[in-house]
Amino acid sequence: MARVFVTRQLPGSALDRLAESHQVEVWPERLPPSHNELISKAGGADALITMLSDRIDAQLINASPNLKVVANYAVGYDNIDLDSAAAHNVAVANTPDVLTEATADLAWALLMAAARKLPAALENAHTDWQTWEPRGFLGADVHNKTLLIIGGGRIGTAMARRAQGFDMPVITVGRDHSQLSQALAQADFISLHAPLTPETKHLINTETLEHVRDGAILINTARGGLVDQRALAAALNEGRLAAAALDVTDPEPLPASDPLWQAPNLLIAPHIGSATESTRARMADMTVDNVLAGLAGEPLPNAVQAR
Ligand code: DGY
Repeated sequence: MARVFVTRQLPGSALDRLAESHQVEVWPERLPPSHNELISKAGGADALITMLSDRIDAQLINASPNLKVVANYAVGYDNIDLDSAAAHNVAVANTPDVLTEATADLAWALLMAAARKLPAALENAHTDWQTWEPRGFLGADVHNKTLLIIGGGRIGTAMARRAQGFDMPVITVGRDHSQLSQALAQADFISLHAPLTPETKHLINTETLEHVRDGAILINTARGGLVDQRALAAALNEGRLAAAALDVTDPEPLPASDPLWQAPNLLIAPHIGSATESTRARMADMTVDNVLAGLAGEPLPNAVQAR
């Protein structure tokens, strides 16, 4: 019987299936274990089920002599040092596909909410609705506007499909960023769907934001690190971006003292892209399948490798 440490309580009953054949310990707190607590738990584990907020670095992997599998409960795996994992024969897996549509739905919801000033309008109906207001809550059209998708993978493609229903021309920029400035200059909406890598860190920065059309709206449901948040705050403060809607920030949560909170026309959600009942339950099933395969010495169904 192998020992599996799970860093958070998960929805659904997938862990029961794991517990039929292995010793499963689940971190019981609402807040995650600190890095030191995680290192201590990993030190006695054969497998880990980790969250995107858990840093699985060389220090942790070096201190975990029995570790064979890290199954990340996320499609993104920028929290894991894949080179260290490979050097120690630790197999790593993620949860692709099952969260594609839910995350694209959330990106679309943020796009609509930012374009139509929805959170402020909803709040107004509760607190200060005095009359029909000819000049109130004037937002941006979505239909027929140009959507730039940065990151042409599964979620970016699902976002592009949604745009078809709104008659939106779509431009996609994938791994080759040589045409990014030109694409930014054509876009009314910019939606980020790229993984966080050394190449994509701060892809949206002071220089790239200079190319953005006046009044464009930025949506980020990928990783906070794609955006230089100081540059974003400046673009919002100067009115060059009409709005931004973020499901992800760097760090998470964004500290109360961060100046980004003071920027106008900014919506921030607490990283809920995959947060539907069925998606999160399917993610749990996948992580369990990955752990069971790894502990049985079989290839992981959703293995990820260093690029
Ligand atoms: C992931 O799984 O990487 C997503 O960010 C979850 O919303």
